[in-house]
Formats: sequence, structure tokens, C-alpha cells
Amino acid sequence: MKTKLESIREESLRAIRAAADPGALDALRVQYLGKKGSLSAVLKQLGSLSAEERPQIGELANRIRAGIEAALKERGEALQSALLERKLREEALDVTIPGTPVALGARHPLQIVWDECVDIFIGMGFQVAEGPEIELSEYDFDRLNIPEGHTVREWTDTFYLTEDEKVHLRCQTSPVQVRVMEKQQPPIRIVSPGRVFRKDEIDATHSPMFHQMEGLVVDKGITMGDLKGTLNVLLRRLYGPDTVTRFRPHHFPFTEPSCEVDVQCFECHGEGCRVCKGEGWIEVLGAGMVHPKVLAGCGIDPEEYSGFAFGVGLERLAMRRFSISDLRLMFENDVRFLRQFS
Ligand code: DAH
Repeated sequence: MKTKLESIREESLRAIRAAADPGALDALRVQYLGKKGSLSAVLKQLGSLSAEERPQIGELANRIRAGIEAALKERGEALQSALLERKLREEALDVTIPGTPVALGARHPLQIVWDECVDIFIGMGFQVAEGPEIELSEYDFDRLNIPEGHTVREWTDTFYLTEDEKVHLRCQTSPVQVRVMEKQQPPIRIVSPGRVFRKDEIDATHSPMFHQMEGLVVDKGITMGDLKGTLNVLLRRLYGPDTVTRFRPHHFPFTEPSCEVDVQCFECHGEGCRVCKGEGWIEVLGAGMVHPKVLAGCGIDPEEYSGFAFGVGLERLAMRRFSISDLRLMFENDVRFLRQFS
């Protein structure tokens, strides 16, 4: 019986030390120490021993049980810490490894002035309105008081989409004025930046697609003074607080009176130079008091309300702002050019 117990000890300790995982260890515990385990089987035979032998064997069996329990505990702990170590190793994060660089783009110069202009007007309580790029001639021409036969209505100037000349790619953002006014009674204060299209040959200052921002204010008692004040804020925010402006009479069919707005040349301060082509002034936008016919055509009573409107070319603003000499750079998407604005 003693040899039986010794062999159980040896066999079990060897097996425990070799156990590969906690599950195997549990199985061994059952196999050796369980109610139906090998140790119990031996102890069941204690009764057949002499009174002398019984305590010796009993004591030996207890020692072996304690030894197996200790071995199970030790192996269990070893397995746990090995598992932990492996996890730590596998899940290790080396924070010193350089990250994968994320290629950051840059805002397009045009988008920069677009955002800047919109921000300036939002600061003055304007909202941003949108209109379609494929426009009805009714909105882009008729209701803006641009009569049949006007040069901008020529096929050589405008991208018509239908033979009957009723649909075309809008040639200005001004139709958004009509779209806003026919839906909304005053007070109206909106700006509307967007694409416009004209049949122009591409060169350093022309493109068949470019961008404008329209502005419209309609309310009771709006005067030319409001127009000048608002546009002076725009131009001084864009070009600096000392910017000198000039409002020069002009003609647009949808405004009366109309004007063009110039800023004094920053280069020569009015003397005349290469930048302003000897003029001393640089034209930046068109504006005027909304024509009573246009108001009335949108269901707004011109006896009760008045308004001003303006349209500004965004490419020109951007070119002046960033000293870009050729308009084509804006649309060629050469990353060497675009990167300069990051
Ligand atoms: N639509 C005009 C153009 O493309 C610009 C313009 C002039 C817009 C006067 C206006 C305005 O709203 O009042 O040349």
C-alpha cells in the first residue's frame, strides 16, 4: 500500500508539473484528489490494514494529499502568471513607434475667401441662401429686368440647355435674389455664394466657370447709405481698416441706381501703377438699389419696402488677396500650388 501511495505521489506530481493549462490542472485535481480519485481509492482500503499500520499509512496519505495540493496551487499560479505575461506581451503597445502620417489637405484659396466673406456677413446678421446652377431664364433674366435681346442673353454668351432658351447654366448669382424674395417677405438679409457660367475663352483672367457671391437686403427704409455702410464693412474686413473705397455710378438692369465699387490701389495708394494698370483704383464689385420692378415681380410692394443688392467675384478677391497672377491656377488642381495655402 505504501508503494501504491508513493507511485501515486510521483505520477501525480509529474503530471501536475506538466499540465499545460488551468483546465488540465482541474482534471488532475479530480483524478487524484476527487471522491472517486486514486487517493480515495487507496484510503478506502485502510480498514484492511493492521492497527499499527493504519496511522502510518493514514499519515503518509495525508502528506501526499498536502503535497499534491501544494503542487496544484503552485502550478496553477505559474500557469496564471505565464498567461498574464503572454497577454501583456501580445497586447503591448509601443507608444514610441512613430504613427502613420495622415496627409492633411489645405483649403482652396477660393474656399478661404468664400468662408471669410460668409463669416463677415453672418456677423452682420445675414443668412446664406442657395440657388440652382441650372437656372430658368425666367429667373436669371426676365425677372431681373434683363430684356430679350440683351447681350448676356446671346447664345455666344450663355450656356443654354434647351433650344427654346428657357433653361441655361446661370451666368450670375443674381437669380437667387428672385428665388428668395418670391418665398419670403422682408426683412431679408442674405448672401449666396456659388458657381456661375459664361462662354468665355480661358485666359489669365477669364474662365467659363467662376464664382460669385450675391447679397440682398430688403426691409423698410433701406437706403444707399445702408449699401455703402455694409460694403465698406466687407471691404475693410477683407483688405484692412484703412481701405479707401469709391462708389462709381454704373448700370445694371436689376438695380436703380446702380454702382460699381472700387478700392484704392494698395500698391500705389491712388497714384497709378502696374497693379491697378495706372488707374489708382481696382474695381471689386457691382451693387445698387433693388429695382422697384424686381421687387414688385416677386410680390414685394416697392412703396413699402426698399433694398440693396450686390454681386462680387470671388476669384478676383482671392487672386488679389493671395497675389495670384493667373486665374487658371485656381482650377488646375496642381498640388504644388494648393499646398501653399496649408
Ligand atoms: N450680377 C452682376 C454681374 O454678374 C453683379 C451684380 C451687380 C449683382 C449689381 C448685383 C447687383 O446684385 O446689384 O455682373
